[in-house]
Amino acid sequence: MLQGLKTFLRTVEENDIDTIYQWYNDQEVNFWSSGAWPLNTLQSKDQIAVKFLDGSPDIYRYSILDENDHLIGTIGFKELNIPGRSATIYIVIGDKAYWGKGYGTDALIVFARFLFTQWNFHRLSLDTWDENIRAIKAYEKVGFKVEGRQREARYVLGNYHDAILMGLLSSEFLALHGK
Ligand SMILES: CC(C)(COP(=O)(O)OP(=O)(O)OC[C@H]1O[C@@H](n2cnc3c(N)ncnc32)[C@H](O)[C@@H]1OP(=O)(O)O)[C@@H](O)C(=O)NCCC(=O)NCCS
Repeated sequence: MLQGLKTFLRTVEENDIDTIYQWYNDQEVNFWSSGAWPLNTLQSKDQIAVKFLDGSPDIYRYSILDENDHLIGTIGFKELNIPGRSATIYIVIGDKAYWGKGYGTDALIVFARFLFTQWNFHRLSLDTWDENIRAIKAYEKVGFKVEGRQREARYVLGNYHDAILMGLLSSEFLALHGK
């Protein structure tokens, strides 16, 4: 179990699946996640269980818990580039009552520290979309910098939006948050 100031990260357990299923089928959660993850298509509980419990060699997923062991979201990394020591991360706080209260930032700091110090990554990437200001602010607090913008790359509930590409180097993160 990885411990932050407000969050804990652990592997995904069977008991988490019912809750993750609710989030996957929540339009507001999907709206902000914008189609990159979770998928904008509805998924059955069985499909979600396979995805989260059986795992995939390409995607590593973890559960985010609050101070009272309550499941509030998931976080993970994918698209490993071994020579470049980089990966792409994603996060979803699925319990909407926890949005905007610092849990996402805290989980991201714990996760980035894990990836930089334990996995020895050199760089982390992520992308979001132009209207997701809450996500962009949280990423900036962790140390991510905007590196680019893909015009009208996202289609979110009937409208095209720019994708915002962000990146964080190990040295930048450690200078900001320490080991
Ligand atoms: C994005 C997400 C991980 C951020 O985590 P969080 O716990 O909600 O965010 P935090 O409270 O740590 O930080 C959010 C920051 O944005 C600010 N913020 C929130 N809503 C805002 C808004 N509408 N406009 C401007 N700033 C806003 C907050 O004030 C806070 O900044 P501050 O600490 O300087 O005040 C979480 O909201 C989430 O998972 N949302 C749903 C799915 C999603 O968007 N995933 C990311 C896809 S790329």
